[in-house]
Amino acid sequence: MASYRDDTALKALRGRDVLSLADCSPQEITALLDLAAELKSERRKRSLRRSLEGQTVALIFFKPSTRTRVSFDVAIRELGGSSLYLNAQEMQLSRGESIEDTARVLSRYVHAVVIRTYAQAELELFAKWSSAPVINALTDSFHPMQALADLLTLRERFGELKGLRLTYVGDGNNVAHSLMIGGAKMGMDVVISTPEAYRPDPAVWDKAVAIARENGGSVRYVADPKEAVQGARAIYTDVWVSMGQEEQRAEKLKAFQGFQVDRSLVAAAASDAVVMHDLPAHKGEEITEEVFEGPRSVIFDQAENRLHVQKAVLHAVLGQ
Ligand code: CP
Ligand code: NVA
Repeated sequence: MASYRDDTALKALRGRDVLSLADCSPQEITALLDLAAELKSERRKRSLRRSLEGQTVALIFFKPSTRTRVSFDVAIRELGGSSLYLNAQEMQLSRGESIEDTARVLSRYVHAVVIRTYAQAELELFAKWSSAPVINALTDSFHPMQALADLLTLRERFGELKGLRLTYVGDGNNVAHSLMIGGAKMGMDVVISTPEAYRPDPAVWDKAVAIARENGGSVRYVADPKEAVQGARAIYTDVWVSMGQEEQRAEKLKAFQGFQVDRSLVAAAASDAVVMHDLPAHKGEEITEEVFEGPRSVIFDQAENRLHVQKAVLHAVLGQ
């Protein structure tokens, strides 16, 4: 068994919920990234750790998913556990059974619950009533598994996260929130560029700024995207219309004019800057097809890394 750089930090995650990266210390995030990198290289050598043997993980989805669903499912299987995909629309939850009761019942059957839902408060309520650990697979507020995969991708590319400037351009949404928190934990210089009306949630902002201060990083708002990407080693964007916001589509498309990641924006960043997107992408809206397909894109590395970081999280929470 390989030895991890910070076994104590990893051990501290055992049995815990992961509802936001704010729940994890910088040491714990680093330990998860180290473990994810080990698991990634072991998988390439076709060596798998069966640390979830005999354990079942439920995957409850209230929203669609390709990457999260499949990468969690594969992660659980490769670790030797069993996965159970549950479409929330087909559960008694959709007929009014409470979250409190659902959580108490399911956690008598399974060893952990991965949830994709709307309100962060509902995820937190589920976690409060569940005797099994709960992992956030995206809410309207946060997407911590995505941010972990993004941090791993950046670390693979640049080695060191501390001081690294990442500029997020677009909607101040769940993905932006988790990047702000995760980046702040790792001492990065996170720059957010959004239309004024779509800035990140003020409570998340204040939290991220405070976390950055504690860890020698920064979280800053720069309205003009061209100015915001100056010196950036990563330009990150996400869809302008997130799941559940479909009725705001026309209004948002208008508000985000000028926030597209295109060739000229990439040219204004550092010469070695990478382009990131959590996917799915709406090419021609938040990113041009040319940049999406271009040589700076690490988008599919991010998608792959979802598998490795989620394995690390499952191993840390359930497998040690
Ligand atoms: N990036 C991401 O979470 O993708 P899915 O919606 O396909 O899971
Ligand atoms: N912000 C997007 C991310 C999808 C993975 C959404 O919430 O729909």
